[in-house]
Amino acid sequence: MKITNTIKEVRKNVKAWRTEGLTVGLVPTMGYLHEGHQSLIRRAVKENDRVVVSIFVNPLQFGETEDLDTYPEDFAGDSKICASEGASMIFHPSEHEMYDEGFCTFTDMTGLTETLCGKSRPGHFRGVCTVVSKLFNIVSPDRAYFGWKDAQQVVVIKRMVMDLNMDIEIVACETVRESDGLAKSSRNVYLNSNERKASTILQEALKIAEKKIASGVRASHEIQKAMIDTISAEKEVKLDYAEIVDLKSLQPVNTIEAPALLAAAIFIGETRLIDNYIYGI
Ligand code: PAF
Repeated sequence: MKITNTIKEVRKNVKAWRTEGLTVGLVPTMGYLHEGHQSLIRRAVKENDRVVVSIFVNPLQFGETEDLDTYPEDFAGDSKICASEGASMIFHPSEHEMYDEGFCTFTDMTGLTETLCGKSRPGHFRGVCTVVSKLFNIVSPDRAYFGWKDAQQVVVIKRMVMDLNMDIEIVACETVRESDGLAKSSRNVYLNSNERKASTILQEALKIAEKKIASGVRASHEIQKAMIDTISAEKEVKLDYAEIVDLKSLQPVNTIEAPALLAAAIFIGETRLIDNYIYGI
C-alpha cells in the first residue's frame, strides 16, 4: 500500500492503473477510522481493482465554533486499517496541498443543503461539496463510497455528481453500529461514560419512529412528536433537530411515503451526534 501527500503522486499512480485497464474506487474520509469506514473500504476493495482512501480533515466544512482543532487523529492506526482491508493507496494531503494560497473556487448548492444538518451548520455542505469535488478531480474514481449515517451528505453528493455530470458512481453503504445501536462515528470518542449511556436515546427515538411506521402510522407530526418527546426526556441531551423529509428533495413531508428520511441530531455536552432511519429503500 502506497502512502502519499501529493496530488501529483496520486495522479501518476491512477494514470498507470488506468493504462492497465484497472478500475478505481475512492473512500473519502477525515481519518480516525472506525468499523464504519472499514466496511466502506472493504466494499470498495471488493468492487474495484484499486482503492484510494483519502484522509483529510477538511477545514472548509467546520464552522467557527466547531471541533476542527480537536478532531481526533491517528494516522498510524488508520494506515493499519487501510492496509489490512486491502487499500492500494492512502492520500493524506496537507491543508496547503488541498487549498493553495489564493484558493477561491467553491462547489455550492441550494435547496438540499439548507435543511437538517445544513440548517444547524451553515456552510458545512459548501465545504463538503468543495473538498469532495476536488477529491473526485484528483483521483477520478469509477466509484466513491459514503455511509448512510450521513444521509444528507449522500443525497447532496449524488445530486452534485448528477448536476455537474461527474462520471462517478456514488455507492451508499449501510450504517455500522455499536452493540447497543449507537452509530459508529469518529466523534463517539469525545463521550464520557455518562454521555455514552445517554447517547443511545438517539437510536431509541428512531426505533420508536420505525415501529410506528411499521404499525401503519403515516402522519409525520405524530412520529416527529414521538421522536422529540423521547429525546427530550433524556436530561443529558439537547435536541438539535428531529425531522421527517422526502429522501430526494430533503423537504419536510406531512405524510410519510417511501422513500422518506427520518433524521435527528443531538448535542451531548459539546458533542454533536447524528443518526437516521430511512423508510422504504
Ligand atoms: O464524511 C466525511 O468524513 C466527510 O464529510 C468527507 C466526505 C470525507 C469530506 O470531508
